[in-house]
Amino acid sequence: MMMSCGWSSAMAPTAVLVVVVVGVMVASPTVGELARVEHPTKEDGSLAVLVVGDWGRKGQYNQTLVATQMGVIGEELDADFILSTGDNFYNDGLTGDNDTASFQESFTNIYTADSLQKPWYIVLGNHDYTGDALAQQSSAIRAIDSRWTSVNKSFIVDSDIAEFFLVDTVPFVQKYWNESKFDWRQVAPRDTYLSNLLADLGDAMSQSNATWKIVVGHHTISSGCEHGNTTDLVAMLLPVLKTYGADMYINGHDHCLQRITSIDSPLEFITSGGGSRAWAGKFKQTSDKLEFIYDGQGFLSMQLTVAEASFAFYDVTGAVLYSWQLTKSTSTN
Ligand SMILES: *[C@@H]1O[C@H](CO)[C@@H](O)[C@H](O)[C@H]1NC(C)=O
Ligand SMILES: *[C@@H]1O[C@H](CO)[C@@H](O)[C@H](O)[C@H]1NC(C)=O
Ligand SMILES: *[C@@H]1O[C@H](CO)[C@@H](O)[C@H](O)[C@H]1NC(C)=O
Ligand SMILES: *[C@@H]1O[C@H](CO)[C@@H](O)[C@H](O)[C@H]1NC(C)=O
Ligand SMILES: *[C@@H]1O[C@H](CO)[C@@H](O)[C@H](O)[C@H]1NC(C)=O
Ligand SMILES: *[C@@H]1O[C@H](CO)[C@@H](O)[C@H](O)[C@H]1NC(C)=O
Repeated sequence: MMMSCGWSSAMAPTAVLVVVVVGVMVASPTVGELARVEHPTKEDGSLAVLVVGDWGRKGQYNQTLVATQMGVIGEELDADFILSTGDNFYNDGLTGDNDTASFQESFTNIYTADSLQKPWYIVLGNHDYTGDALAQQSSAIRAIDSRWTSVNKSFIVDSDIAEFFLVDTVPFVQKYWNESKFDWRQVAPRDTYLSNLLADLGDAMSQSNATWKIVVGHHTISSGCEHGNTTDLVAMLLPVLKTYGADMYINGHDHCLQRITSIDSPLEFITSGGGSRAWAGKFKQTSDKLEFIYDGQGFLSMQLTVAEASFAFYDVTGAVLYSWQLTKSTSTN
């Protein structure tokens, strides 16, 4: 099912034929600061990013089809990097930093296109946390495939015009703490972890000079798909995003593609969780404004300049399902 409401706008992505050499620098954080990765824009100051979530199933459930089309669109837009919204390895993450087989079968051997040989910036989902939740940040895993960039469970990708705040949302979800399967090493106790993380995020967002402040996490805040809202994030994370003027929150967890606009702020809620198994036909009521929802597989592209942001959702054939634009004059915080 595809539903398109509100305004849509034609987006004509022009291939930018600029070759940039991407140097990824990781600065070590001081205490109380989120780790930061610098990722330069293209020479013309723009940025093209693909976003995929909920994918690691060894190619099954159309993961391979989505990957192939990401390669095509990545080439067309000259993607600078890829964001993963989590649930990177089903069903239970990696078993350890020596779980080379799972890592290669679901990542390295799937996203093979030239255009996807760029840094992948990663957050963890709940399925990653029921395995070895530290393995994905290990140097052993990064050594298998140097695209894999998960410098910490929460970190910042700083691209001058845009700052991406990658937030570890799994520990926010209270009900997981009642389950024995979750790997809370270096996280527990929950209260301290969350209050430090929210303080560090607030500090970083308040100091940000970027035009676009984009927060990325696994769980939904506002959603009309299967899982609906994550009430713990509505209570704890949403106020920080509003206070510091986030332009958008991008998540996975719900296996759909979705755009929601807030009824009480300029914040947009974007779900890109269509990397493999989809949840056809499962919806929740939402009182926010549902602009678009698609319950099949696919991914998101994002093209940013200082003045404008263009987005598109694609299906497994690479067809554009829905596209929209934001300009700073209408979405400024
Ligand atoms: C793969 O995608 C096609 C087209 O959307 C869909 O009809 C089919 O059910 C999908 N297959 C799986 C296993 O999800
Ligand atoms: C990974 O290391 C663990 C602990 O040392 C060991 O039990 C396991 O067999 C290793 N797995 C692989 C795939 O090498
Ligand atoms: C990762 O984040 C945690 C919590 O913010 C912090 O304590 C730790 O020092 C960070 N590690 C690195 C390598 O940045
Ligand atoms: C977690 O367990 C506690 C104590 O057993 C219970 O009071 C609480 O309702 C549970 N919370 C959730 C979200 O399941
Ligand atoms: C923002 O700009 C100010 C003033 O130029 C500078 O001191 C600060 O470091 C910048 N913040 C970031 C996060 O780059
Ligand atoms: C979900 O959260 C959003 C943002 O706080 C809120 O506007 C909406 O009413 C919530 N939806 C439900 C069903 O609670």
